[in-house]
Amino acid sequence: MRRMMIAGNWKMNTDRSSGTALAAGLASHVAGKNLTADVLVAPPFPYLEAVRETLGSSGIQLGAQNCSSEAEGAYTGEVSVGMLQDVGCQWVILGHSERRHILKETDSFINQKTRLALSKGLGVILCVGELLEEREASQTDEVLDRQMAGGLAEVSAADLSNVIIAYEPVWAIGTGKTATPDMADDAHAHIRGWLAENYDEDAANSMRILYGGSVKPSNAAELLGQPNVDGALVGGASLTVDNFGPIIDAGLSADKS
Ligand code: 13P
Repeated sequence: MRRMMIAGNWKMNTDRSSGTALAAGLASHVAGKNLTADVLVAPPFPYLEAVRETLGSSGIQLGAQNCSSEAEGAYTGEVSVGMLQDVGCQWVILGHSERRHILKETDSFINQKTRLALSKGLGVILCVGELLEEREASQTDEVLDRQMAGGLAEVSAADLSNVIIAYEPVWAIGTGKTATPDMADDAHAHIRGWLAENYDEDAANSMRILYGGSVKPSNAAELLGQPNVDGALVGGASLTVDNFGPIIDAGLSADKS
């Protein structure tokens, strides 16, 4: 029903040589396997093209970590949706907590990028997630509702089919602290409920919701086994074949379709 996705967010890591070596290692890892799940890597902008060439016909998809809120023009330093598509990206990660909290991106700015990407046919992986103090103050659901409503404002039901949600509790990102499988499933179920209320049951049931935050080979299978968890968005553990390979395999075995 919902095809799993295992996505690697390389963040600001790798260089040309290590990035292409990682891509080559992942391509060999999946070679000959039946890709029953989507597998995606999101390298830094400068290496997108080299990584795409290295991935070749492996079936591994390419994503970017951000895009401009504007289509083209005098926006020094920005990278447009069209440029990302031109180098072979099928997806862009938007609303990542590092961009929300370090770079101060707001829900409305994230929404502008989301609508632009979708209008041009680029898939969006929209990240949402609460801070530790918000969880401790029992505000998780409220934060998720606000980020969902903000990020998806004026996104049509038709465009929603090109969106994936990634639930990434901020306190679990890069900290080694993982949400328990129950905590992840509860948050995912809440997000699905929001979709049912604000779109419809079909939209809620077909939405893929990935979990992100200290996913590693030792916890991947259990997280992916939760009924509302449809994949993983992996940071640190996506940077080596030794770690990301087994997470991909867990995704292939967790196929719920
Ligand atoms: P870690 O897997 O390093 O915790 O990062 C998660 C993340 O932010 C993926 O986007």
